[in-house]
Amino acid sequence: MEKKNLDWKHIGFAYHTTDYRYVADYKDGKWQEGYMSDSPNIVLNECAGIMQYCQEVFEGLKAYETADGRIVTFRSDLNADRMYHSAERMEMPPFPKERFIEAVEKVVKANEAWVPPYGSGATLYLRPYMYASSPVIGVKPAEEYQFRLFATPVGPYFHEGAKPITICVSDFDRAAPKGTGHIKAGLNYAMSLHANVTAHANGFDENLFLDPGTRTYVEETGGANFLFVTKDNEVVTPLSDSILPSITRRSLVYVAEHYLGLKVTTRKVRLDELKDFAECGLCGTAAVISPVGKVVDHGKEICFPSGMEKMGPITQKLYDTLTGIQYGKIEAPEGWIHEI
Ligand code: PLP
Ligand code: COI
Repeated sequence: MEKKNLDWKHIGFAYHTTDYRYVADYKDGKWQEGYMSDSPNIVLNECAGIMQYCQEVFEGLKAYETADGRIVTFRSDLNADRMYHSAERMEMPPFPKERFIEAVEKVVKANEAWVPPYGSGATLYLRPYMYASSPVIGVKPAEEYQFRLFATPVGPYFHEGAKPITICVSDFDRAAPKGTGHIKAGLNYAMSLHANVTAHANGFDENLFLDPGTRTYVEETGGANFLFVTKDNEVVTPLSDSILPSITRRSLVYVAEHYLGLKVTTRKVRLDELKDFAECGLCGTAAVISPVGKVVDHGKEICFPSGMEKMGPITQKLYDTLTGIQYGKIEAPEGWIHEI
């Protein structure tokens, strides 16, 4: 299969229209048969539920070209599962998990020429989502929905790539206590835009959000979970019921324990503890593990000993092992890698 002629190393984290996407409609009380479409456009009623009350959920996962030229996906069953729960919380009919996985396979196969070559640092990002497509004017769930899944090649999420970033403690909250912080709904991201633009305007790469109930504990950023390393090489990840349960973070916890023999603790992490950690990273499908060099809390700088030049040593080991598994260079735990 001949690849598209893109400057793979410099595509950035941006949308490219690829050739085919998967579409399935929910109507008459059931999910209809899906189909592949060559059109990236959607025509909607002006009063569609998505337009008025933001009834939408989505996912993000990647397809990788391995060192030996295979194309694989990573733990897509967990994305299918998370989207199922996100839909339930948003009063939407969940999309069957086996059909989600089938749609991933179809879209990757149909867009094989868009899978970035091994070694380019880019991957094929997959964006499954579903939204309310029928009109609603009173506040209530819609009757009809559409599930879609498209692909776009992407480079690193942060421009710096593997260079540490600087983040600020946000004055805004991304989620509400007992709200929707734990599901992947577009409305959470709309909520985070003002905080994001404000952070960028002040020269920061991202926001650290605090727990919305007490503003004492570390939650996550707008698009990734935190992972810390203590001075005696213990991995610590924040516990909260208003953060997204990151598949990357759950995988890194497993890698830390079973591949690197490290102790891992998931617990509440106070903001005033950050100064005691040796390393800090952001983990997610888009972020992979992006090292954080500095957190700024209203002018007060917390600088991690790993510094602003490169990843800390444990973060690097976690990164190398996880990406080694994803690119087929290190044996994966049972069921993590699915060849297309
Ligand atoms: N937290 C938020 C708010 C996210 O949007 C994401 C991205 O999906 C993550 C965490 C990381 O989750 P995952 O590792 O499953 O991609
Ligand atoms: C992902 O990592 O897949 C996300 O959805 C995060 C988003 C900020 C791009």
